[in-house]
This record gives sequence, structure tokens and C-alpha cells, in this order.
Amino acid sequence: MSFTSILVTGGAGFIGSNFVRMMAREHPDTKITVLDSLTYAGNLENISDLIDAGRVRFVKGDIRDPIAVRAAMSGAEVVFNFAAETHVDRSIEEAASFIETDVQGTYNLLNFARELKVARYVQISTDEVYGSSDGTDFDEESPLKPGNPYSASKCGGDLMCLAFANTYKVPVVITRSSNNFGPYQHVEKFIPLFTTNAMEGKDLPLYGDGMHQRDWIYVEDNCRAIALVAEKGKTGEVYNIAVGNSQPNLRVAELILKHVGKTDSRIVFIEDRKGHDRMYKLKAEKVRKLGWQPRTDFADAMEQTVKWYVQNRGWWERVKSGAFREYYEKHYKDKLARGKAK
Ligand code: NAD
Ligand code: TYD
Repeated sequence: MSFTSILVTGGAGFIGSNFVRMMAREHPDTKITVLDSLTYAGNLENISDLIDAGRVRFVKGDIRDPIAVRAAMSGAEVVFNFAAETHVDRSIEEAASFIETDVQGTYNLLNFARELKVARYVQISTDEVYGSSDGTDFDEESPLKPGNPYSASKCGGDLMCLAFANTYKVPVVITRSSNNFGPYQHVEKFIPLFTTNAMEGKDLPLYGDGMHQRDWIYVEDNCRAIALVAEKGKTGEVYNIAVGNSQPNLRVAELILKHVGKTDSRIVFIEDRKGHDRMYKLKAEKVRKLGWQPRTDFADAMEQTVKWYVQNRGWWERVKSGAFREYYEKHYKDKLARGKAK
């Protein structure tokens, strides 16, 4: 099924841009608006071809800003909220922006989803809200036990969503996925950081003993699940999304070195992250019952992903150096201000 018109917040970030690209490709009749404030993590290059082609309407704005949200959301049938502060290490240094965007921003979006009577509001959340697992799988009813300020802020957003579904009957659904990997992921995150460091001959800084596990899902498999939950999910319900592919970080680091090929890089064990969650584990039968199943094999997708960073060196070098901002200034700033980003 295709939606007539969607608003994708955070559509210039990693998962949001992959989602926008998938929707634009597979649903040619769906009108797509992206609302993104372009924080350090928002990169217009990720969707610039679609903006240039007139396929995506881009609005630079903050999800905490009522005026920007009302303007962007007007006419949207479905809202997908990908916008968030997302990096655990940053949240350990400073949590205020996480609370402002992930809680306050979500609240602001929900208010307008209610007022404008959108047909569906999809909150993109994370397995991290359940906290670290001792080996048991968490289902959607498991208690929330966040282990760091990022996951605590995501819990706040999730709970506000559930409250709006219950109190005002806003047609909310929540997806909680495991760790994503794929193209366009910010280089501060594990897989792109290690891949690009290996290409630069730099060390790969592994936290603690390197035996923390993450259950990796290819980004497009998650995007398909999100679209399906939007279509078939039940209001007020949560859907876990995972493939059951837990890997110790050390193994993933070794795989990256193998795929990058000959390199002078070394894996170095560094002081552990504060409060580092040992592993996340999800039961995802509920989303499978809606008809979802992953299409991607982890080994193949890892090889393809590393290849993407090898082939798109200019992209990540501009992210690492900060030059991607100049791209925005040069190509879009004036045009967007005049409302003509073509
Ligand atoms: P990201 O950091 O790559 O992108 C976030 C985007 O949101 C950026 O484009 C940024 O500019 C934008 N943004 C941030 N604050 C904003 C604000 N106040 N107003 C408007 N835009 C703002 O994040 P990601 O990895 O793509 O994650 C997207 C969503 O998926 C997040 O909600 C995250 O919690 C969730 N999630 C991510 C993962 C993962 O592995 N990356 C796993 C599970 C869930
Ligand atoms: P990350 O990509 O930050 O995602 P999250 O913490 O949200 O799961 O990290 C994934 C795993 O990789 C996590 O266990 C922390 C580890 N890690 C390192 O060992 N070194 C690093 O430099 C980074 C960024 C992460």
C-alpha cells in the first residue's frame, strides 16, 4: 500500500535518509516532505539528488519548533519521527540536547499530530530502552530499564507517545529496532568509524574487552519493517524489530579489517564506555506476524556496506572534516530560505 503524503523528520540522517530513498524509489506517487534541523548528524548530501529532482520537499526546521512543525506537517497523512539525538557517547558527555529533542521534540510533534488529525504517527525508537540483557530476550511488554542518558531520553519519547495514544487517541505506533548498519551512517558510530579508520591506517578503538554484543540489522530491512508497521500496526502498540544476529564487537572489528583489506590499522582496547550496556536482545515475533522478514544476509550486507564506504570516500571525508556543511551553504541555504530547493 502507498501513502498519499508523508512527513519524515530526521530524513537527512542515517536511517531517515535510507527510509526516504526507499519510499521515493518504491512509492512514486507518495509525496515526501523531510523536516530536519541539520544538526552535526544531518547531512543534506544524503538526499540531495531527490531534492534536486523535486522528488522530496525539504524543510529546514526543528521538531521542537511549533511553527516549523505545523508548516511541515500540514497535509501529511503519516508522520515518521526519525529525528533524535542518537549517539550514546555524546549523551554521556551532555544529555540536555537529548532530553530537548527526544522528549520535548516528540511531545511537540504529537501535539500537532493530534491537532492536524494525521492518520498515523510512527515513533522510531530503539532496543536500548529495555537496557542491557543478561541473555534473556525482551518482548514489547518487558520493563523499560535504560542504561544511559540517550536511552533514557528515548524512553521519555516513547512514553509520551503511548500517553497520547491512550489519552487523545492519536494513532501512534512505536518501532524499537536493534543496531542498524549500512550506507550514510555517521562516522562517529562503530561500523563506519572502524571502516574509515582502517582505510586511513588509524587505530580501531574498541571499548573494554570487546565482547559487548550488538544485534545488527541492515538498515533497509529496518526501513521495510517501519513502513509495514505504519500500514498494519495497531494503534498504541510497540513493535520490536531485530533479526537475531548478535555479534561481539571484536568479531565485527575483525570482519571490517578483513573487508577493507591490507591495512596498517590495529585494534586497540581502550577504557570502557561508562555504563556500557553488555548486550541487547529482542523478541521480534510481533512484527513478523504482520508479514515482515529480513531480506538481507549479515555477511553479504557487511561486505557491501564496507564497500560502500570504500567507494564513497569523498562522502565520509567531508563528514569527518565538517566540509559537508559547506555543501549545504553552497547549494541550498539561499534556495531553501526562498522556498525553492531545486
Ligand atoms: P542520526 O543521528 O544519523 O540522524 C538524526 C537526524 O535527526 C539528523 O539528520 C539530525 O539533523 C536530525 N535532528 C536531530 N535533532 C533534531 C531536531 N531537534 N529537529 C529536527 N531534526 C533533528 O540518527 P539515526 O541513526 O538515523 O537514528 C534515527 C532514529 O532511529 C533515532 O530516533 C534513533 O533513536 C533510532 N534508532 C537508531 C538506531 C541505529 O542503530 N542507528 C537503532 C535503533 C533506533
Ligand atoms: P555505537 O555504534 O555507538 O552504538 P550503540 O552504543 O548505540 O549500540 O556502538 C556499538 C558498539 O560498539 C557498542 O558496544 C560500543 C562499541 N564501540 C566501540 O567499541 N568503540 C567505538 O569507538 C564506538 C563508537 C563504539
